[in-house]
Amino acid sequence: MSVKLTLVILFLVYGAALSAVLSRAGHRDRIARGEGDAAVRPARILVVGATGGTGRQLVSQALERGHEVTALVRDPTRLPLKHPSLTVIRGDVLDPGVVERAVRGHDAVVSALGHHRYYAATSVLSSGTRNILRSMESHGVRRLVCETSLGIGDSAGRLGLFYTFFVIPAILPVYFLDKARQERLIARSRVEWVIVRPGVLTNGERRGRSRHGARVGGVFLSARISRADVAAFMLDQLGSDAYLGSAPGVCG
Ligand SMILES: NC(=O)c1ccc[n+]([C@@H]2O[C@H](COP(=O)([O-])OP(=O)(O)OC[C@H]3O[C@@H](n4cnc5c(N)ncnc54)[C@H](OP(=O)(O)O)[C@@H]3O)[C@@H](O)[C@H]2O)c1
Repeated sequence: MSVKLTLVILFLVYGAALSAVLSRAGHRDRIARGEGDAAVRPARILVVGATGGTGRQLVSQALERGHEVTALVRDPTRLPLKHPSLTVIRGDVLDPGVVERAVRGHDAVVSALGHHRYYAATSVLSSGTRNILRSMESHGVRRLVCETSLGIGDSAGRLGLFYTFFVIPAILPVYFLDKARQERLIARSRVEWVIVRPGVLTNGERRGRSRHGARVGGVFLSARISRADVAAFMLDQLGSDAYLGSAPGVCG
């Protein structure tokens, strides 16, 4: 066997093994969930990751829905939005004091936390989420809706072959292992939670509909969804118990 072929086979074995690790490390649903009533009364919502692609959509759509929104941001200039129902708090999710002050007094937290330092040994997702959960538990803030990704826990392998065997093993192993830890922390917490696992994100238009549940995503092809539709689905989870305590996938 040529050296090149051996390397390709070894890489594929590594990709399959990483998928198996992510499958065990992330959250696994025990109960199949279905449709629910997504209507929700206006609430006080903290958005974490508010300057990101999904986060900006969360902020603007939550305001459209009549919620009072607080955005936790590191750099307020990255959220160029003014609204009477929007409060911006400057701070880092890794600072427990800042997170505690931000979380206090809200009905729910919606998180689209993420970063692009894929090769750095960071634990921003899990450490930041630990701070959020601790503050929620100590201040009686009930519900957390958190964006992670297809490819973790019982959705391992459902981000398509290209992601399962190339992107995740070559570029995202550290990041995805941190996402798996993040999911485990949420699933073990005492808050009401919904983990939302999108397919590949786009900046496309909001279509106002999505496929969601335990079986969405593809083993062969990568399913996509716009950040706008992910945000809409996440906000729907504030008023629905259909996916409470579970981790639906969501695709366009
Ligand atoms: N890209 C995809 O195809 C894909 C697919 C599935 C799931 N996802 C996941 O979906 C999530 C959202 O992705 P996205 O591309 O919409 O968002 P994004 O652009 O990656 O934004 C991430 C947000 O997290 C914030 N953040 C990072 N570190 C922080 C810290 N220490 N303290 C406070 N805030 C911090 C960022 O703030 P700054 O603006 O200050 O950096 C930003 O607002 C991510 O977890 C991503 O991995 C992505």
